[in-house]
Amino acid sequence: MCGIVGIVGGHPVSQRLLDALKRLEYRGYDSAGVATISGGTLERRRAQGKLINLEMRLKELPLDGIIGIGHTRWATHGAPTERNAHPHIVDGVAVVHNGIIENFAELKAELEETGADFETSTDSEVVAHLLAKYRRDGMSGHGAMQKMLKRLRGAFSLAIIFQDEPSTITVARNGPPLVIGHGDGEMFLGSDPISLAPLTNEVTYLIDGDWGLVSRTEVMIFDSEGNPVTRPRCASMALADRVTKGDYAHFMEKEIHEQPQVVARALTHYVDIAGRRVAPLSARMDFANVSSLVISACGTAYLAGLIGRYWFERYARLSVEIDVASEFRYRDIPLPPHAAALFVSQSGETADTLASLRYCKGNGLKVGAVVNTTESTIAREADAIFPIFAGPEIGVASTKAFTCQLTVLAALALGAGKARGRICEDEERQLVTSLIEMPRIMRQVLENIQPKIQLLSRELSEFSHVLYLGRGTSFPLAMEGALKLKEISYINAGGYAAGELKHGPIALVDENVPVIIIAPHDRFFDKTVSNMQEVAARGGRVVFITDERGAASSKLDTLQTIVLPDVEEIVAPMIFSLPLQLLAYHAAVFKGTDVDQPRNLAKSVTVE
Ligand code: F6R
Repeated sequence: MCGIVGIVGGHPVSQRLLDALKRLEYRGYDSAGVATISGGTLERRRAQGKLINLEMRLKELPLDGIIGIGHTRWATHGAPTERNAHPHIVDGVAVVHNGIIENFAELKAELEETGADFETSTDSEVVAHLLAKYRRDGMSGHGAMQKMLKRLRGAFSLAIIFQDEPSTITVARNGPPLVIGHGDGEMFLGSDPISLAPLTNEVTYLIDGDWGLVSRTEVMIFDSEGNPVTRPRCASMALADRVTKGDYAHFMEKEIHEQPQVVARALTHYVDIAGRRVAPLSARMDFANVSSLVISACGTAYLAGLIGRYWFERYARLSVEIDVASEFRYRDIPLPPHAAALFVSQSGETADTLASLRYCKGNGLKVGAVVNTTESTIAREADAIFPIFAGPEIGVASTKAFTCQLTVLAALALGAGKARGRICEDEERQLVTSLIEMPRIMRQVLENIQPKIQLLSRELSEFSHVLYLGRGTSFPLAMEGALKLKEISYINAGGYAAGELKHGPIALVDENVPVIIIAPHDRFFDKTVSNMQEVAARGGRVVFITDERGAASSKLDTLQTIVLPDVEEIVAPMIFSLPLQLLAYHAAVFKGTDVDQPRNLAKSVTVE
C-alpha cells in the first residue's frame, strides 16, 4: 500500500525523504515521488517502478529544499505510471495521499465545472484541486484544509505543502496510519515508525479524524471540528537498522529459515518452559468466563485464525465464529453477549480487520489483538495485545508471521482450555512439551527437505493449476499452501477440504493438475488417503505430504512423497507449513518472479 513521508528540516531533505521511502518499500508500491520547496517554488521528481528509478531521477535533477514530502504509490485508481505518481501539484499545493477518496468522481465533476484541469486518473488529485480552489478563494492553508476535509469521504492519510507557507507540512488522518516524529529542531512524518526510526524514536500517533500543522519546532493537532487536541508523545521501539537479507537470495527465504528461532522466542512469552505449563492469561483475557469466541482477519492471518478455531473448539470447548474481516464487518452479525474476540494481523493496520475490531468493541466485546507490530493501530485499539514476536517480516508473502500466529493461537487455546477446566494437568504438560519441541523439529525439517522440495518445485513451476487438499487443521493449511503458491508464482491454486473433493474440485483432476495432499497421520488420515486414491485413479499427479507413520501405513511408493517427522496434532500445522512455503518459494524462483514484492500485492493493506 502507499507510503507517506515528510520532513520539515533544518537542512536539505530530498535524500532523507528517499531513505525514509526505502524503509517503506516492504509495503509494496509501483511508483514513487518527492516534492520540496526549492528556491521558493514547489518542485517534484517522480518515477514509475522501483525507488531506484526515482533515485536516478534525483541524481540527474537534484532537488534542494529543507521541507518536503514523499510517497510510494500502490495504484488503486489509474495505472502505475509516472503521470499518476504522487505528489500531485496544483497551483502551489503539493499533496501525497494514502487511501481511497470514495466520492472523488463527484468532487472531480464539480471541480471540472469550475474549470479545473485534471492531469491524472487518480482519486487523490481532487485533494490538490480542492485545496487550490479554496486558496484561490482567499483562504489560508489552515482554513482551506479544514473546509476540504469536510468534503472528503473515504479513507485517507494526507501530507500537504503549500508553496506560500514554506515552513509547515499539513497532515490529516482518517483511516491509514500517520505518525509524526519529533526531532531536534526538525519534525518528520511517516506512514509508520519504521520509516522514521533512523531520524527519531519519539513519535506521536494521529488518530482518525485528526489533522494538524507540523513545523520545525511545533506540532498542532486538531480534531475534525477544528478544536485543538493533544496526542501523547511516545517512544517507538522500531529499530533504526534496516533489516537485510543476509546470505539469503530473498527476504522470504530468510524468513522461512528464521522460523525455528522466532517461534521459539514467541513460545517463551506464552509457556513456562521449565514447568511445561501454559502461562496464565486471565489478566489479559478472561477466557474462563466468555460464552464464545469471535475471530476475524484477512488472508494468511485469517487462515491462521481458521486453524486456531479447531484448537479453541477442541481444547477449550469454546465455540468460534470466524469470518474474513471484509465480510465480517458488513454482516451485521448479532454478537453473543459475553463473547470475546480475537483479531489476527501481522501489520496491525489492515483496514478490514481494524473495522471488524471496532465493530466488536463497539458492541461491548472484549477484544484481543494477535499482532506482530505492537505499535500498530489494531494493537493500540485492542483491550489486550498478544504479540507474536516474529520480528520484521519484509517478504510480502507471510511465512514466519503465519507460524508465529499459529504458535500464539495454540498457546492461547491451551490457556483457555486450562482456564475453563477443559484440559487436565497431564494433557497440558504433554501438549506444552510438544510445542516446546517444535522449533527443534522445524530446524530438522528445514535442513532435510530442501533437495526434494527443489526437484518438486521445478516440476510444479511448469503447471498452470495446482490443487491442495487436507482435512481438519490441514484444510486451512491447504488453503494457505495454495495462497502462498499463487501469490508469488502466479500459478492458479486452490485449497479445499479433502472431503469436498467429490463435490466439485475432482472435475479438475487430470495429468495437468498436480494435487498436493496434506496428510499427517491423525484421526483423518485414512479418509484423506481415500481421497488421494480417488485422485490417483483419475490420473492426477499426487504430491503426498505426510509424516513417518503416514508414509509407513500408506505404502504408496509410486507417489511423490515428502515425509516429515511424527509430531503431536497441535504442532502439525506449523511443521507442515514448511514444505508448503518452500514449494511456493522455489516454484517462484524457478519462474523468475519478484518473490519478495509480487506484482499487485502490498504488505500492509490499509484500505478496503
Ligand atoms: C499472504 C499475506 C496476506 C496477509 C493479509 C493480512 O501471504 O501476507 O494475505 O496475511 O493481507 O495482513 P495482516 O496480517 O497484516 O493483517
